[in-house]
Amino acid sequence: MTFWPSKRVVVGIGGGIAAYKTVDLIRRLREQGAQVTVVVTAAALQFITRMTLQAISGAKVWDDLFALDQEQEMGHIRLARAADLVIVAPATADLLARLACGQADDLLTTLLLARAGQPVLLAPAMNPAMWHHPATQRNVARLQADGLLLVGPESGAMACGEEGMGRLATTEAILEAGRRAMTPARWQGRRLLVTAGPTCEALDPVRYLGNRSSGKMGWAVALAAARLGAEVQLVHGPIALPPPDGVRTVAVTSAAEMYQAAMARWPDCHAAILTAAVADFRPQFCQTDKIKKPAQGAEQQPMTLVLQQTEDILAAVVAQRRPGQVVVGFAAETTDVEQQGWDKLRRKGCDLLAVNDVTAAGCGFEVDTNQILLLGQQGQRQSWPMLTKEETAERLLGAVEELWPDY
Ligand code: PMT
Repeated sequence: MTFWPSKRVVVGIGGGIAAYKTVDLIRRLREQGAQVTVVVTAAALQFITRMTLQAISGAKVWDDLFALDQEQEMGHIRLARAADLVIVAPATADLLARLACGQADDLLTTLLLARAGQPVLLAPAMNPAMWHHPATQRNVARLQADGLLLVGPESGAMACGEEGMGRLATTEAILEAGRRAMTPARWQGRRLLVTAGPTCEALDPVRYLGNRSSGKMGWAVALAAARLGAEVQLVHGPIALPPPDGVRTVAVTSAAEMYQAAMARWPDCHAAILTAAVADFRPQFCQTDKIKKPAQGAEQQPMTLVLQQTEDILAAVVAQRRPGQVVVGFAAETTDVEQQGWDKLRRKGCDLLAVNDVTAAGCGFEVDTNQILLLGQQGQRQSWPMLTKEETAERLLGAVEELWPDY
């Protein structure tokens, strides 16, 4: 909730059936604290009422380029310049064509033409045949070359009954694209390796040794870095999260697989942030058949598992690093947290160690928040308050930036 509150967003609506979905986009933007101004084309009002848009946006809906009172209160130039972001959803084939030609024949196209150097995000939606038509594709290419950004369309069932490419991007995808459009790409050209989630070490064909890691911490790091324009390689164990937008994901199961995947990618990266809860031990043998209980009536015997140590990915990443590569480890601790953290930092040799007390409420595994004690090889010590994992990730990236000699 820290990103949108200060943002002024113009939502432009074109005349297509997907206009009804834009109501949800406006609602979500306002829910997250953005200040929303709605501008519609005449055709949009055939699909959705002014009353609905006014009620949802909590403000007057703008449409008339020539209404003097509107122009006095808020000229199209001021409207174009004051907004941090203009989103056009749906951007219809007709609207794309008019924009590509630089036409300014209604308030929406005029304000888009008057916008100079600030982000405009187009979310096209139309029938698949219209989307694939060479004229539309030509217009889209021209608009992208002019610096306008695109989100979607997506493929699926259309309101007209056809299937194919042309559905409006989801509200989530538009919000994420809007956020990225306004975020300076500070990590453009930087490559980051992230590990996340648990590893599972097979005991037999149906059982494994695992842990409670959900992958949320690593996901947040990967997403935050992608938002800054980084190229992110996210190596993750079995988790149930959808891949973060713009992040390359590599799914693995065991510590050995995570080791292989991470080490293959590390040489090309500028930094590694290892949030994964990697198993320290694996069963020495994985039984080929399901382990059976003793037969009924047989004498009960304690069962012994023989374990062997897994590869230590963090130690290997540190051992193979080149000058300038920054390595951040995590430490899941349960007692004597700070002392254990310092000891682990020395043992592992990483630049920074994000220590979390996984017994504390709202901290560590599964939850959406975390509280980090950040320790560094140069004696740095920062005790962060309880933050969302997203905010924690942003702070961590800031800490990495401070260690890059060439940043
Ligand atoms: O996934 P979530 O549900 O969001 O939970 C987040 C988290 C609790 C998993 C995360 O905040 C966290 O603490 N991750 C580290 C968990 C862990 O295994 O800590 P550790 O102290 O055992 O390991 C220290 C470091 O060595 C970690 O960076 C770990 O990734 C790494 N390691 C450990 C063992 C191993 N064989 N190879 C490793 O690279």
